[in-house]
Amino acid sequence: MLKIVDHAVVQKSLTRIRDKNIDRVHFRHGIIEIGRLMGYEYANTLEKKPVTVNTPLGVAEGIKIKDIDNIVVVSVLRAAIPLVEGISHVFKEAEYGVIGAWRSEEPPFNAKIEYIKLPDLENKIVIVADPMLATGHTLNAILNEIKKRGTPKKIVIFSVISAEPGIAKIFKNHPEIEIYTCSVDEKLNQDGYIVPGLGDVGDLCFGKPCL
Ligand code: URA
Repeated sequence: MLKIVDHAVVQKSLTRIRDKNIDRVHFRHGIIEIGRLMGYEYANTLEKKPVTVNTPLGVAEGIKIKDIDNIVVVSVLRAAIPLVEGISHVFKEAEYGVIGAWRSEEPPFNAKIEYIKLPDLENKIVIVADPMLATGHTLNAILNEIKKRGTPKKIVIFSVISAEPGIAKIFKNHPEIEIYTCSVDEKLNQDGYIVPGLGDVGDLCFGKPCL
């Protein structure tokens, strides 16, 4: 299932961070904001149950979100750090995992996973945060690793911008996955970057690595 998060506030923030003249502070802040808004959008799809609450003056009807204590958010280093910060504003009770992954800079852009630290995934809703779903190689490898380590109730990808090749790869190998994204962009360039996209999220958030 592919869900485009097309809320006007999300699209306004996305437009802002696409601007090639944006500075690092506003870029990172924009990604945090988008993470928070994607979290809100997803939280609204979770099952709710009615509850009552005693106010100082009476009894009010309210809701409990059933799976709110049952969420694991996985951060794909390093680009997902600000996205996860935004998501954490919504899923405050979540557990967190990190995966250190990178892909080769030349075709076929093979993914390499170097570090994995995950909590128990059994029957959890696992949100995998990776801002750019480009070739899909990295996320595909990450989903394979997640599935080796447990049987989540559901796995959801949060990606700010996605491209068709990445989406197709994920759905071919993991058809049950849900992808939440704010835009499906036209294509990839020869370096595996999404076009028009917004550039290298890790570099824009944190600066260019010197290796
Ligand atoms: N990673 C990025 O940071 N940007 C892209 O366009 C693709 C992958």
